[in-house]
This record gives sequence, C-alpha cells and structure tokens, in this order.
Amino acid sequence: MLSNTLLKRCFSSTTAKRVGQEIFDDVKFQVTTYNRPQDLCVTRGKNDILYDDINGKQFIDFTAGIAVTALGHSNEKVADVLSQQARKLVHSSNLYYSAECLELSEKIVDKTKQFHGQFDASKVFLCNSGTEANEAALKFAKKHGIKKHGEKKQGIVAFQNSFHGRTMGALSVTWNAKYRTPFGDLIPHVSFLNINDELTKLQSFLQSNQNQIAGLIIEPVQGEGGVFPVPAEKLIGINQVCKANDIVVIYDEIQCGIGRSGKLWAHSYLPKEAHPDIFTAAKALGNGFPIAATVVNENVNNVLQVGDHGTTYGGNPLGCAVGKYVIDTIADEEFLAQVNEKSKIFMDRLAKIQAKYPSQIKDVRGLGLMIGAEFAEPPAKVIQKCRENGLLLITAGKTTARFVPPLTISHENIQKGLDIFEKSVAEVYA
Ligand SMILES: Cc1ncc(COP(=O)(O)O)c(C=O)c1O
Repeated sequence: MLSNTLLKRCFSSTTAKRVGQEIFDDVKFQVTTYNRPQDLCVTRGKNDILYDDINGKQFIDFTAGIAVTALGHSNEKVADVLSQQARKLVHSSNLYYSAECLELSEKIVDKTKQFHGQFDASKVFLCNSGTEANEAALKFAKKHGIKKHGEKKQGIVAFQNSFHGRTMGALSVTWNAKYRTPFGDLIPHVSFLNINDELTKLQSFLQSNQNQIAGLIIEPVQGEGGVFPVPAEKLIGINQVCKANDIVVIYDEIQCGIGRSGKLWAHSYLPKEAHPDIFTAAKALGNGFPIAATVVNENVNNVLQVGDHGTTYGGNPLGCAVGKYVIDTIADEEFLAQVNEKSKIFMDRLAKIQAKYPSQIKDVRGLGLMIGAEFAEPPAKVIQKCRENGLLLITAGKTTARFVPPLTISHENIQKGLDIFEKSVAEVYA
C-alpha cells in the first residue's frame, strides 16, 4: 500500500481541495486491473528519464511507456505540434474530411512503400489504440472471407505467445489463457498454431483448413510473449499458402513497428512475397498520444463498404498531426541508422553480461531496440532491484526482461542503464 503521507502529498500537490483529506479512497476508486509498485508515482519525463518528484527519485527509462515514446518523453517538437494543432482544431468527427487525417493516411502509405514495407499498401483506417486497430483488421479479414467465399470462410489463425489486445476480438486471438478464459465466449473459429513448428506442418494446417480460414494474424516480432523475432522463412512460407488460398495475412506491428525494429516496419526486412494484406500500427505513432492505424491493400479494401466500420475519435486532427510528425522523423535513413547503432551497443553489452551469468541469463535476442534477455526464472527480483537502483525495465513472457527504450535514448544513458542492470543482476545473484 502507498503510505498515507505519500498519497496525501501526491494528491495535495495537484488537487488543492484534497489537502489533508484521507486519500486512500482515491486509490480505492481505480478498478483492480494493475498491480503497480507502491513506492513510485511518475510526475514528469524528459527524453529517456522519468522523474518521481514525490519521492525525490529519477529513473533511466528502458520501457518508453511499453514501446510508445519512441521520440522520448516530453519531446519539445511533439509538444509544439500538439499545442499548435490544439489551437487550430482538435476534433470534428469522421463525418467530414480533415486535412490532417488525409495527410497522415497518405504519409503512412507513401513512407511504407518508400521504406520497403507493404509494397501494395493502399488505404488506411485510423483509430485510437492497438486493440482497435486489430479489431478493424479482424473485421476486414472476416468480411473478405465471407463476401468472397461464403459464411464458412470466417475463421482466424493466430499463434501461441501472441498478444493482440484486450477488446473481445483482439482478445480472442491473444494466446495467454489467463487473459481470455475469465470472459466466457469470445469470437469463434480461432485456432492457435505454434510458430516453432516445422513450416510444412503450419502450411499443411492452413492448406487443409483453407475453406474455413478468413485471416491469419501474427506479430513479426512477438513482443509481450517474450521478444521472439519470427524467422523470415516462416513468414515467407506462411504467406505462400495464404496467398494461394485467399487467406488475409495481418501483421501486428503495434509494438515492433515505427522504427523499433531498426527499419520503419519489422516486415520491411522481408521480401515482397512475405508482405501482408493488412498491418496494424499504434503505440509509437502518437509518441504517447492515442492514435493507431490499420493499413490495407486493395484486395482487402475491395470488400469494404460505407458503414462497415467506424469510430468517433479515430483520425482526429490532433492525433494525426502528431502521427505525421512521428512518421516524418522516424522514416528517415539517418534516424533508423542510429537505432541500429544503439541496438548493437545493447546487444554487445548484454551478451557480455550473459557470459558472466550463463546459468541465470539463458538468451539475449531481439531486433533494433526491441530486445529481450531471457532468464532461467522470472526476472521479478532483477526488475525490482533495477528500480531500486534507478532503472525502469519490464518483463515479456514469463522469464524475459525486455529492453524497449526511447529510440532517442542518449549513449550516456544506455551505458548508465546497462551498468545499473549489470549491478542489479550481480546483487540478485550474488
Ligand atoms: C503487439 C501488440 N498488439 C496489440 C497491443 C494492444 O495495444 P493497445 O494496448 O494500444 O490496445 C499491444 C500492446 O501491448 C501489442 O504489443
């Protein structure tokens, strides 16, 4: 429990009315969905540092708000874009065109093609969060299957270890049973395959069930499941069968997209024949402002009609203005080169730490600045020790510590943060 004094200070600094009031009630009014550290209340951030002014602490941030603040906390340019756009127009609904919405859609399509992403990217649906982007993708895939081939072709294939979001559709294709089973019936006809199975086994499942499968959804780098980049040959082989059987391929690039992998999209590493029919983006697209996108090719867009999907806030001018700035900044060879350079620093140093603790750290893997260090056991103690020592880290899967810093992290704070990580590992396993 947060101490009474801490909570009073926390709330009294922002809500004058509440000074001296019993404050536990405020915490009581938050639903029980998160287990947060009791000694931390973030008050501000600057690029790669988060501050807790209440407890007088600061942290190097290797979490970037779960791979969101790619351009750093409180980025001045993002703040300028937000404030200028807020003075111009925040929202006018999707009943009317807005220049920012049209410009962002065009920018996503153009930059995707220019930076070796989906070669036939064509149209964009803008929404507010990752899970919503995936809902749209699933609806589009199901409609495609049903419209083109009849009611039977509406199943979805997903993968073990996947995470696609918490709304009912996205949840239905999320692997972790703990997230799914408390909520009863989800969308039917979902099958989970294991990406580590032989390609021929995966292909044969898709081939023999093609009459019932409308779409397949996969993260090119599995994030929440434990930071597992999916081998290119698997994605090439899966696409081959899907294309031959009109199964819509959806890449969830919500965590691994927008520069995180060292390319604009993680699928930019792949040849054309492994490009998806749909991909989804969110997180870094707004650098913390909620905006997301579902990008489709004409094969998918062809089946959509006015009224098939919608959103009140999606594509609002404020989010689109930020999205344009983010894409312009990250879709840049120099920017991406520095992501890869920093990635190498992380990987090299983590490999050295692993070599020192081979029984504790089993693997170091990742792509760009999406890196996992897999421990022999859940790394909760290491993560807590890091926090005590001034570094924020998160887990992925059961046994992996995840490194997803802002893509703008300074070289100095990479070293300082990794020093803290190494020290914390040493303290836990002394
Ligand atoms: C790969 C992936 N897909 C979907 C989501 C859901 O995004 P959101 O939390 O914005 O709904 C996440 C969130 O962590 C994610 O990592």
